[in-house]
Amino acid sequence: MRAGKTTEADIRGMKGRRRIAALTAYDFAMTKLLDAAGIPLILVGDSLGMVVLGYPDTTHVTLAEMEHHVRAAARAKPQALLAADMPYQTYQSPSAAVESARLLVAAGAQAVKAEGGCAILPQVRAILAAGIPFLGHLGMLPQSVLEEKGYHVKGKTEAERSGLLADAAALAQAGAFGIVLELVTPPVAREITQKSPIPTLGIGAGPDCDGEILVVTDLLGTSPGPIPRHVKKNSRLAEQMGAAIVQWRCSVEQQ
Ligand code: KIV
Repeated sequence: MRAGKTTEADIRGMKGRRRIAALTAYDFAMTKLLDAAGIPLILVGDSLGMVVLGYPDTTHVTLAEMEHHVRAAARAKPQALLAADMPYQTYQSPSAAVESARLLVAAGAQAVKAEGGCAILPQVRAILAAGIPFLGHLGMLPQSVLEEKGYHVKGKTEAERSGLLADAAALAQAGAFGIVLELVTPPVAREITQKSPIPTLGIGAGPDCDGEILVVTDLLGTSPGPIPRHVKKNSRLAEQMGAAIVQWRCSVEQQ
C-alpha cells in the first residue's frame, strides 16, 4: 500500500532500494488500471503516435495531441507520478521548452521527458529552473528516427559509450530525477546505472538498470505493430479481444 501522491523525490529515492516498474498510458481507463496495480511512474509517452493515433513514428505527434491525452490520464487522479513526453520539435530552445512543458503541466502532468543529453542541456536547465521535474531519455531516441534512418542500438562503439556516460552525468548534475535508457547495450546501461546518482529505467537495455519502462500495449499484446524483441512477457490480449468480438458478432448474427 502506498501512502500519498508519488513525487519525483520518491522515484529518485527508489534507487538502490526498490526496482522501478514504469509503464505508459494514454487515457483515463488505462491510467486507473496501472495505478491500481501499484505502478509508481506512469508516462504519457509520445509512442501515443504509433499505438493510438496510427502515425508511422513519433515525429507526427503534436503538443495539442499530447495535452489532450495527458488531460485524459490526469482525470484518473493517479497516486503514481504522471510524466508526459515533450513531442518532436517542441523544445528547440530554452524558452520553447519551458512554454511546452508548462502546457503539459497545465494539462495535468507532474513531470516532463525529452530526448537527448548534452545537446538539450540548456532546455533541461530552463525546464528545471521553471520548477518542472524532468526525466531524461538517452540511447536510441525515437524522435531522431528520420535523421538516423531507423531505430539503432546505442553504446556499441567507444565514442557512443563515452557520449552516453557524459550525457547521463550531465542530466543528473542538471537535476533530472531519472533517465530512460532505450536500446542501450547492456554493459553500457550497467555502467551508466552504476555511476549515476539517479535511477535508470531501461527499455531494451538489459537487466541491470534500476528499473524498466515499457509501452503498455507491448506488454499487454495489443500494439498494432510487431512487439519489440525486448518485451519478454507479452500477454497477447489482442488475440483474446479478437476472439471475444468474433464470438459476440456470431451470437448477434445467429439470433
Ligand atoms: O514514448 C514512449 O513510450 C517512450 C518509451 C521509452 C516508454 O518514451
